[in-house]
Amino acid sequence: MKPETLIWLADGSPFNPRFGDVYRTRTGGWAQAQGVFLNGCGLPQAWRGCSSFRILETGFGLGVNFLATAVAWLGDPARSSELHFVSVEAYPVDDVALQESARRLDMAPETAPGQDFARVLTALLAAWPSRQTGWQHWTLLPGLHLHLGWAPAQTAFNTPMGPVDAVYLDGFSPRRNPDAWDSPTLAAVAAQCRRGTRLSSWCVAGSVRTRLTELGFTVQKMPGLPPKKERLEATFGG
Ligand SMILES: C[S@@+](CC[C@H](N)C(=O)[O-])C[C@H]1O[C@@H](n2cnc3c(N)ncnc32)[C@H](O)[C@@H]1O
Repeated sequence: MKPETLIWLADGSPFNPRFGDVYRTRTGGWAQAQGVFLNGCGLPQAWRGCSSFRILETGFGLGVNFLATAVAWLGDPARSSELHFVSVEAYPVDDVALQESARRLDMAPETAPGQDFARVLTALLAAWPSRQTGWQHWTLLPGLHLHLGWAPAQTAFNTPMGPVDAVYLDGFSPRRNPDAWDSPTLAAVAAQCRRGTRLSSWCVAGSVRTRLTELGFTVQKMPGLPPKKERLEATFGG
């Protein structure tokens, strides 16, 4: 599979020409991962006291949510014994793009050699293959497992994989990337959830909220991370 083309815009944001959208804003990636995705799923508190905690993500992209989650988990003395991060990516970038993305994240202290960010990134880059097909299952550091499916979410999540505790919904905008938010994709995600699974997203589109509600989620709009006014939190009750 040819790696996905990534263009760095003049303002420093990574742009995907296939979808005509940015993976993140210039300064927003790390803050969004923490403020929208981790916080929206009640993390780090939610994994405390669990032997194993499983997060499912739609759209691995440049791995920012994964890196931020792994760093928060490694830095939490009360973390679960194991963390399983399950993600899918239909259009993977190569390791050079991943590394460049990590270099451009605005978070200098965490990237220092020997810090958790650098340890996770080094392990991720070492595992990242030149040809991406099927599911990959990697233990990057003790207790830290990454399960990565290189396929569209709606097909990759068709196989039951054990109930997930948290979900990050992170496609490009629904207007430009409708299949990341359509009913088959969200139904495939819901099929992996248990009662009480928490879900977070930056996207509060009415169509997405309606689909999630129909699938058994209780959906709430929350104050967003500037420049976005709102973000989404939901809990699965089905
Ligand atoms: C906004 S980016 C995700 C950013 C990522 N979570 C991060 O932390 O860097 C959306 C990603 O979803 C991927 N994508 C779009 N449609 C998809 C689909 N149907 N199934 C799987 N991945 C998809 C895109 O290729 C892109 O990498």
